[in-house]
Amino acid sequence: MTVSTASIDAMPRIQTDSAVEVRSICKTYGEVEALRLIDLDFPRGKLTTLLGPSGCGKTTLLKIIAGLVEPTSGEVRVNGKIITGPGPERAFVFQDFALMPWATVMRNVAFGLELKGMGKAERQSIARHYIAEVGLTGFEDKYPHELSGGMRQRVGLARAFAVNADVLLLDEPFSAVDEQNRRKFQEDLLQLVEKERKTFIFVTHSIEEAVYVSDRIVLLSRRPSRVAQIIEPRIDRTVSPDAIRRDQGYLDTVEEIWQGLKHYVD
Ligand SMILES: Nc1ncnc2c1ncn2[C@@H]1O[C@H](COP(=O)(O)OP(=O)(O)O)[C@@H](O)[C@H]1O
Ligand SMILES: [Mg+2]
Repeated sequence: MTVSTASIDAMPRIQTDSAVEVRSICKTYGEVEALRLIDLDFPRGKLTTLLGPSGCGKTTLLKIIAGLVEPTSGEVRVNGKIITGPGPERAFVFQDFALMPWATVMRNVAFGLELKGMGKAERQSIARHYIAEVGLTGFEDKYPHELSGGMRQRVGLARAFAVNADVLLLDEPFSAVDEQNRRKFQEDLLQLVEKERKTFIFVTHSIEEAVYVSDRIVLLSRRPSRVAQIIEPRIDRTVSPDAIRRDQGYLDTVEEIWQGLKHYVD
């Protein structure tokens, strides 16, 4: 495994085949300057993680890409087109799941399709496929309160997949689940990335989790946030999860990010 890093001087990077292009994004809330000149490309079929200190603007950046928050300046292109608001090609998975408590797993997963006006039989068939993909077959008629945190998070993921968005925006999706489920979830996520060939933009504040699941890690500095470093862990994912976590390259990358965070954050 080798680790390549790009310094702030090398920004912005131009890449073709990027599903999402973030250009000169700035965001100020009143007196608070959250993001300063963010330039990033998110390649299709890859999982890119935004990693940075609490309050640096990770959620803000994700919401700007989602079209839920307007930047103060700059623009975001999705599949080459400048966005002006939310769109069906992007799906957001919230930290707190945002499931409808009164609706079954089936209804929750099919909800985006219901909003699009798709007929019941078709949307249920699509929902059933994604419910199976996240390992929840048999739970279609359960309500969110009957599920564990990890299962609820899977419902959120299945819902995001069901709308067939190209871009999945995941804001600390595993933060509410216990360590054991978290690890299981990381495995599921890796499988989905492999299988679905979508663009994943993932937020976490766990360095280990970032190194474990990411193709690319964008290290953000403390507010006003800038891109401090981009790290590409090259991990041999053909070995077992335990073997990966013992791999010297994995451990070195965790250490490198730790040092990077100390450097850019302190
Ligand atoms: N709607 C808002 N109004 C005012 N300030 C906000 C709002 N949303 C976020 N902020 C501020 O912007 C900064 C970045 O927040 P956020 O994007 O949530 O960071 P992170 O997700 O990295 O923890 C924080 O200082 C936060 O208090
Ligand atoms: Mg956040």
